[in-house]
Parts: sequence; C-alpha cells; structure tokens
Amino acid sequence: MAMASMTNSLRLFSVQLLLSFAMVYGKVPSIIVFGDSSVDAGNNNYIPTIARSNFEPYGRDFNGGHPTGRFCNGKIAPDFISQAFGLKGAIPAYLDPAYSISDFATGVTFASAGTGYDNATSSVLSVIPLWKELEYYKDFQTKLRTSLGDGKANDIIKEALYLISVGTNDFLENYYAVPGRSSQYTITEYENFLIGIAGNFTKALYDLGARKISLGGLPPMGCMPLERTGNLMGGSECVDSYNNLAAEFNSKLNDLVIKQNKELNGMDMVFSDPYGIMLDIVQKPAFYGFEVTGVACCATGMFEMGYACSRTNPFTCSDADKYVFWDSFHPTEKTNSIVANRVVQTTLAKFLM
Ligand SMILES: *[C@@H]1O[C@H](CO)[C@@H](O)[C@H](O)[C@H]1NC(C)=O
Ligand SMILES: *[C@@H]1O[C@H](CO)[C@@H](O)[C@H](O)[C@H]1NC(C)=O
Repeated sequence: MAMASMTNSLRLFSVQLLLSFAMVYGKVPSIIVFGDSSVDAGNNNYIPTIARSNFEPYGRDFNGGHPTGRFCNGKIAPDFISQAFGLKGAIPAYLDPAYSISDFATGVTFASAGTGYDNATSSVLSVIPLWKELEYYKDFQTKLRTSLGDGKANDIIKEALYLISVGTNDFLENYYAVPGRSSQYTITEYENFLIGIAGNFTKALYDLGARKISLGGLPPMGCMPLERTGNLMGGSECVDSYNNLAAEFNSKLNDLVIKQNKELNGMDMVFSDPYGIMLDIVQKPAFYGFEVTGVACCATGMFEMGYACSRTNPFTCSDADKYVFWDSFHPTEKTNSIVANRVVQTTLAKFLM
C-alpha cells in the first residue's frame, strides 16, 4: 500500500473510531430544541391553532406512515441530528402526552409551527411564543431534577446540545404579510429588534445552564415555492430580495454568536447555516437526486400547506424524494436529511468529540 493512501485510510479509520466512540460514550446525552415548524414535532396538536399538520398526507413516509405534526412527509432536521449523535431517531414534542420525562431526558422539542422571535409573530396564528417555549423548558428542568436527581439532571442540562431554529416567520408571516411591524420598524430596525430577542433568549438559556448551543440561520426563504408562486413578474424564480434578507440576517446571527462566546464564560455556541447547502440543492437539484424544485409535492405545490394540503388532493406527487419541497413552505424529508447531515459534518462535528 502506498504511503499516502495508508495515511488516508488511517485518518478515515480514526474518524470512524471517533464517531463510533462518540456514539457509545457520547458527550451529548440529549438534544433540546426550540423554534418553529422547521423543528416542531407536533406541539401544535395540543393547542388551539390552525397551524397543524397531524393528518395525511403529512407523515406518510414517517416510520412507515404516521402523521405527527411535523410539517414534512417524514423526518425533520432534529431527528437526523439526534440520530447522528447516536441518540434516538425521532425527537418527541414536549406537549405530547404519549411521552414522559424519561423519554424527554434524551431529546425533546418545545418548538411551535408558526412562531417567531417576535411575540407579534406567534400571535398571527395563535401559536406558542418563544418566551413560552422557554417556560416549558424550565418546567422540563424541574421534572428532570425530580426524576433523576440534581446531579444527573444538571449533567444533562450542561452537556446537552441545544438547537434553535426560528426567524423565517417573523419576516414572511409577520413583517411582510400583516400590518403592524412594518409601520413601526424599517426592515433593518426589525432585524436588529429580532437579534436583540435572539441574544436575550440564548443568554437566558445560558443562565439556565445550557452551554452547547446551535443557533440556526435562515434558509434562502425566497426559494420556497410559496414565494416563487408569488413572484409572477419574475417568472416564478426565487425572490432575490428575500434571499438577500436571509443572508444579511444570518450574518447578524453569526456576529451575535461570536459576541456571546466572548462575553459569556464557558459558552460554546455555534452558528449553523442551512443557507448555502439549501441554495445549492435548489440550484443543482439533479446533483442531489431531485427532479423538482420550483413547486412542492403536496397538492398543486404552488401555495398549499397545513389544512390546504389535504389527503384527497389528486395533484399530490407520489414520490416525495424527487421533490426538494414537501409543501409550499417546508422541505421534504430527503432535503432535511441532506441539510442536517451537512450541518453535523461541518458545524456540529466538534460536539461529537
Ligand atoms: C414577549 O412577551 C413576554 C410575555 O408577555 C414578555 O415578557 C416579553 O418581554 C415580550 N418580548 C418583547 C420583545 O416584547
Ligand atoms: C433584552 O433584555 C434587556 C435586559 O433585560 C432588555 O432591556 C431588552 O429590552 C431586551 N430586548 C428585547 C428586544 O427584548
């Protein structure tokens, strides 16, 4: 064997060893999730809102077919991240009475589809505001301590990986869709207002004992089928202004991460960016094995989501793996898998070791 290839296989071997080591003796005992529909596994099923997806065809590819309240045909990013960390293959919703604190101890999501950083965003569809997700997390901490004792509970709280994925709705469901914020704030002022809330949220998590935090960026939101459908003048291409806004907001989130890592002793926060990989998938779908990117699988694919994406719609595609998007606002399981694994291999890899 040539020296170079021997070095390469040794290197590959040690990465694999490290990965399997992490999976057996993982330093991350739990994945704890906050945010919107990108990471909600069904909390909205238990509150009065129309922002729901616990019916077919949602979930038709989830573990052999089971709608859960995930806005997807199958799994969402936190499920794949959990799996990559050697933990369970699906992260349950905190409000789901089928699970108990012993399940939540190894991974739980407090997310609520339709929510945002801004309280006014959660009001649009009467969903759980981000501050209340944090209240549920405090409740989880109390139950964890009661169940496992302070020592073990504090260990989990400190070593867990916290995922935050929210923000798209603040712009698309709130600022640009309903009157209010746009008459109070310029778009730049609104971005900075949201960054202020994000900073207070991550600081509050830190004060509660969290250390390993992944602050998620926005996707190229101008490429969601709903936005492309609205872009009639632009030939149904991606809406550049929304993509540019997402990129700009992401750079501000990244600045926040750098700042808090300096300010807060022991804080180990990373900025997880889905933007680049998502845009690459949309621009080169065939490279990733996709056939359709401009419209979604569900119904006409142009504007339906939630209840409009019904089981009886004759236009729904038969193979979601050919589509980048499942409904007009959310990626398919296959897209989620590619994006989550990319983020694990790049940004989150440090937490595997
Ligand atoms: C959002 O609402 C909560 C609860 O009323 C409040 O404590 C918080 O200050 C509000 N956030 C902002 C940014 O106004
Ligand atoms: C963040 O927290 C600070 C200090 O508690 C508060 O003064 C400020 O209004 C908060 N910012 C937002 C946007 O909620």
